[in-house]
Amino acid sequence: MKYIFIFMIVSATIFISAFRVADSEKPISETELGKKLFFDPILSSDKTISCASCHKPEFAFADTMAFSKGVGGQLTARNTPSAMNVAGRPYLFWDGRVATLEEQVLHPIANPVEMGIGIHDVIKRLQKNTFYKKAFKQVYGKKPSALLLGKAIASFERTLETGGAPIDLFIGGDSSAISISAMRGRDLFLDKAHCFDCHFTPDFTADEFRNIGLFNGFDLRDSGRYNITHKTEDIGKFKVPGLRNVALTAPYMHNGMFRTLEEVVEYYNNPDAFVPAAIGRDGILSEPLLLSAQEKQDLVEFLKTLTSLKLVPQ
Ligand code: HEC
Ligand code: HEC
Repeated sequence: MKYIFIFMIVSATIFISAFRVADSEKPISETELGKKLFFDPILSSDKTISCASCHKPEFAFADTMAFSKGVGGQLTARNTPSAMNVAGRPYLFWDGRVATLEEQVLHPIANPVEMGIGIHDVIKRLQKNTFYKKAFKQVYGKKPSALLLGKAIASFERTLETGGAPIDLFIGGDSSAISISAMRGRDLFLDKAHCFDCHFTPDFTADEFRNIGLFNGFDLRDSGRYNITHKTEDIGKFKVPGLRNVALTAPYMHNGMFRTLEEVVEYYNNPDAFVPAAIGRDGILSEPLLLSAQEKQDLVEFLKTLTSLKLVPQ
């Protein structure tokens, strides 16, 4: 009896460890490879910075600083946007200078203040790395290259789509999914406060470039889309950002100048109070909105209903 028992334990151990081996040898998928790369500081010159250093999962793949730290503690020139809900975007970056996720991946790697390493060097690194050599072979049948690095990370980013926010449940017919205050905020967003004129479509961006008045050529000097097109009408225009999960991605705007959603709403209520001599501000924002304190709060409550329930600790 005793021997049978020992035999059972031994065979169970062999059985379990056989599974473990099989598990570690399970072929990696394209999105798993992309995820591993996204979180791996191997993509920066001194191996300290990964994509996730600035695009942090707990803040909807943005971070909490006005400007983020890259290699050697250098600061980015603009605020880090969320890397979620980017699958459908025809333009990336605040000035829309890149059109595809695959191409976008290579920019932060080569950017001297972000990851600071030549693409050629990073690819050589991946080709020498035993894990990546094998993983790229498994997924693509080829050794690591710039093209495949872009493909892998882009495929991971495409998994970061978030629906399932209270506002989606509300629109789907569950009238108890958002508060009465948020409902009033939604009406303001759609109508009196004009937000919907620019923030529309399911992700609350029409992927257009607009000027909300954060350029004056003096202390606010980033002229946005103009840097790319050199057309005068583009001075001070920035990509309308999507607003999904916006409650998690403070601070706000291309320069991170507003710390809270309350400040953002104050700004839209009366832009002149913040930036008196703005150049080229959109006509929609020419008159103060004259919102009451309650209305401002209602708008903020509405913006909070855009956070995916998956991202809120339940
Ligand atoms: C040091 C901080 C930092 C690192 C590291 C970083 N990013 Fe970013 N990311 C930014 C900033 C800042 C912007 C906006 C820059 C601009 O618009 O000029 C941005 C923009 C983006 C965007 C565009 C989002 C949109 O809506 O337009 C994507 C996608 C993105 N990054 C993905 C990545 C990936 C993938 C990596 C790693 C290969 C990465 N980032 C590494 C700071 C960083
Ligand atoms: C004329 C078009 C336009 C209108 C109207 C508009 N927005 Fe925006 N919104 C933008 C643009 C463009 C940006 C980015 C500006 C920048 O960074 O310089 C932005 C940025 C934001 C941000 C910051 C997002 C982030 O990730 O940093 C929030 C929040 C926001 N808008 C909410 C609203 C609300 C609420 C209203 C209505 C009260 C509104 N917007 C009206 C175009 C508009």
